[in-house]
Amino acid sequence: ETIEWDPEAVGKSGYDHYMRKEIAEQPRAIRDCLRGRVEELAASVSLPELEGLEEPSSVQLVACGTSYHAGLFGERLFQRRGIPAQTFVASEYDAGSVPVDEDTLVVAVTQSGETADTMQALRGANRAGATTLAVTNVVASSAAREAEYACYVRAGPEISVAATKSFASQQVTLSLLASALAGPQSHEFLRELRRLPDYIQAVLDRSSVRDLVGELLDADAYFFVGRGYNAPVALEGALKLKEISYRHAEGFPAGELKHGPLALVTAETPVFALVSGREHTAETIGNVKEVQARRAPVVAVTDVPETVERHAEFVLEVPETHPAVMPIVANVQLQLLAYWLANALGRPIDKPRNLAKSVTVR
Ligand code: G6P
Repeated sequence: ETIEWDPEAVGKSGYDHYMRKEIAEQPRAIRDCLRGRVEELAASVSLPELEGLEEPSSVQLVACGTSYHAGLFGERLFQRRGIPAQTFVASEYDAGSVPVDEDTLVVAVTQSGETADTMQALRGANRAGATTLAVTNVVASSAAREAEYACYVRAGPEISVAATKSFASQQVTLSLLASALAGPQSHEFLRELRRLPDYIQAVLDRSSVRDLVGELLDADAYFFVGRGYNAPVALEGALKLKEISYRHAEGFPAGELKHGPLALVTAETPVFALVSGREHTAETIGNVKEVQARRAPVVAVTDVPETVERHAEFVLEVPETHPAVMPIVANVQLQLLAYWLANALGRPIDKPRNLAKSVTVR
């Protein structure tokens, strides 16, 4: 039986919107996700629910919407650990034409576990003989039952249509999964994952993004850019903004700007740049300079504010951490941006027009 969340029972705990409450819940959600799963001293991860699952020869991630962005993030984690990985928009996945066998792990990433497109992809993967795993938030959901293995993200009930804490919990679960499948990990990565709730709390306590939205309300469009682990978060930042503010927003890998989108960049198009101090720093700053030269207001989200300061109009700081952990924290700034901008525009934040929490039609 699928367990349904009851919005009334969950409540808003004093916040104006479920989305704001769910953003604030992320430190706890991540602690729940990590609980009992990380052995820091041994630099290992244990996921008993995956017992019997061997290191796959390759991984295919299938998902929709925000979960697709989590998939793209996971793909990078697998690749860095030497496991070939590729992410598919579930509605475009065809297990018949993408080669799979039992050594291929197909991971369906889905908050609800009920998305029709994702279920279709998962069924196709099962029919084609792949090994399948559901990464989901809902116990005994359709995806959890259809897949051979299920790993729960433990985000707790998410009521707002715009996914926030479930995305963070998916990112953390995929971090654990990649580590579990690829053997012993760097102490630093696991240590920083454990500190992630505190880093997010620091952003929640100190973010200045609310003061900034007033200056960004009049815009033709909003662009989001990042490289490497930050590229999927750039896509997610844009999706969140368009979903709840109804403003035009697009995300790109920062290097793609010059291959087309730059034609749209003007003084009326704020650009949000995710800049890690540990990876791709110089190239990303190079891309920032290109948009700065077109007079676009640049908002940098970064763990190296001093390095980026003179290239940006505004800086949203995040604590310095591992390059695969930084984007999870940086995303919280973008969630708050979308929230406060939509709030300033008077949008119905928890129930945006035309969208549904769980889409069970194809
Ligand atoms: C809907 C929701 C999105 C969500 C997507 C995938 O479109 O509005 O917020 O990301 O479905 O949902 P899932 O439950 O599969 O993660």
